Amino acid sequence: KQNDDQLIIDAGQKQFGATTCGSCGMVYSADNPEDNFQHNQFHQHFLESIKFVGWKKERVVAEFWDGKILLVTPDDPKYATRKAEEVRRVADSELGFQQVALSRPAQAKTYLFVSSERLVVGCLVAEHIRQAYRVLELPDQQKNMRPNDFMERHRAWCCSTAPEPALCGISRIWVFSLARRRSIATRMLDTVRSTFIFGSHLTKDEIAFSDPTPDGKLFATKYCNT
Ligand code: ACO
Ligand code: ZN
Repeated sequence: KQNDDQLIIDAGQKQFGATTCGSCGMVYSADNPEDNFQHNQFHQHFLESIKFVGWKKERVVAEFWDGKILLVTPDDPKYATRKAEEVRRVADSELGFQQVALSRPAQAKTYLFVSSERLVVGCLVAEHIRQAYRVLELPDQQKNMRPNDFMERHRAWCCSTAPEPALCGISRIWVFSLARRRSIATRMLDTVRSTFIFGSHLTKDEIAFSDPTPDGKLFATKYCNT
């Protein structure tokens, strides 16, 4: 025997029950028509964007048992720069970046991690820089701010006031949600360090992350301390 409260709770669970699509990784409510529609729209576009058909010329800068890393520079053939741009847009929309423009597009290097399933599951954009502001640890008094202080807090953890020399700026790093925590970001960064400047190996101190997201900060903190 069910009472009214029980019915309301069941209805709520149905409506908010979240499903993760096993192909595109989108989290949505399968019972909600609007959500279904949005998922269909996203699903096709997303999978088309990260699909990798193989290129006539590929600059393979690293190879692994589960994939390879390709480097794309702005003067590469159109098929390569177009794919790099397509994946960067996917990453940007997930990062909430409004602008698609890079600060110095002619110098940007894009690293793509292509999985053995022929999907671009990782994208990293690196640019030449001269200096950077070190990411600071969050001061204790800022740790229990209210949610609407988020922007303040975000800014607070980003910058020291004194710039320090750096050579390589990571303006974007993104890994497909279903491929995270398999060291793909780590391997892309290691590869940047050994290939970004020909004939030299960059130290972790010579790399800077611009405007890290919470995920980005957790990753960067781990990467830089190991
Ligand atoms: N939470 C806690 N620790 C983390 C997380 C996380 N979300 N992500 C990475 N780490 C730490 C872990 O210690 C991890 O090692 P472990 O898995 O053995 O515990 C270590 O970093 C290495 O992680 P990777 O597997 O190499 O990282 P991954 O391939 O999952 O990619 C990334 C990390 C790029 C941040 C991914 O989560 C992502 O694409 N997120 C969404 C986009 C984003 O926020 N990108 C960063 C933007 S900042 C910028 O672009 C400058
Ligand atoms: Zn999907």
